[in-house]
Amino acid sequence: MGDPADGQGGRRTAADDGPTDHPHGPRAASGGELPDDGPGDEAPAVVAELRGIELTYPGPPPVAAVRGCDLQIRAGEYVAITGASGSGKSSLLNIIGLLDQPTAGAYRLNGLDVAQLSDGQRTAARARAIGFVFQSFHLIGQRTATENVALGMLYAQVRRPERLRRARQTLAQVGLAARAEAVPPQLSGGEQQRVAIARALASQPSLLLCDEPTGNLDSAATATVLDLLARLHDDGVTIVMITHDPAVARRAERVLVMDDGRLGETADTAPTVAAPTAAPAAAPVPRRAAARTPKIGPILAPAAASGRRRP
Ligand SMILES: Nc1ncnc2c1ncn2[C@@H]1O[C@H](COP(=O)(O)OP(=O)(O)O)[C@@H](O)[C@H]1O
Ligand SMILES: [Mg+2]
Repeated sequence: MGDPADGQGGRRTAADDGPTDHPHGPRAASGGELPDDGPGDEAPAVVAELRGIELTYPGPPPVAAVRGCDLQIRAGEYVAITGASGSGKSSLLNIIGLLDQPTAGAYRLNGLDVAQLSDGQRTAARARAIGFVFQSFHLIGQRTATENVALGMLYAQVRRPERLRRARQTLAQVGLAARAEAVPPQLSGGEQQRVAIARALASQPSLLLCDEPTGNLDSAATATVLDLLARLHDDGVTIVMITHDPAVARRAERVLVMDDGRLGETADTAPTVAAPTAAPAAAPVPRRAAARTPKIGPILAPAAASGRRRP
């Protein structure tokens, strides 16, 4: 079989057209292997599918952190998972990101049952299919932004000159071309988090997973990072973001709530629209329109957005 992380299958995007001049679009999720994907291009491919996922930490005492979670994430979606501290958000994200294994349930990533992977295959799958962004930036202080981003491709079997080229390209795409040779202490918190996002994106993952990405940022830097995520979403990147902050969660296109290990959809999922009778001045701004306000130049080639499902 091929690379288990590669998500080979049906749908092609511009991202598939060349390994060297890649627009950093999302790695296409598998279409052909999935029984429910159907013929044609109606629904974007399923990237992640969780059924009855449980995670109980052994303890003592045992902690049931994730209980019976079902979740399907399609290519191009921007999903926020919110909920109180300790409700199991990070535990669930760690399962999605192959950092932890569930104690029960089934998880398919790009159509592959990850329980069937060896440790080595799981590591390879994580390196190639998952980009992680955490609350802490986890940058190496003595290395330039370019080198930090290039390090993110170390396990993705990309040679160093190509890693550096892609690193500079990805930094430009997150609006940091001018800071590419700066070291983290010379960068603001918002800039450091954008470097971390570039590092996560540089190997063109199927899924960008963000665990409280604005948790260490002031309000101005939070806005910059959320604008960047919105642009990435508009350009086709598949994003799952965890946040305890409902205002941050509302920037996503779909909001889920974790409550004591259980995952539920919210009424907030539907886009906000003005009631027909509302006076224009009182009409709420549609959430997606607000989220699309461009602050940074083009991030991804428009063709890379083929996985997008517009609500
Ligand atoms: N490694 C671990 N070992 C034991 N319990 C853990 C571990 N990690 C998290 N927990 C517990 O699991 C529950 C969910 O934690 P977590 O997923 O971090 O929640 P959240 O991200 O929503 O704050 C909490 O009760 C937490 O104390
Ligand atoms: Mg957490």
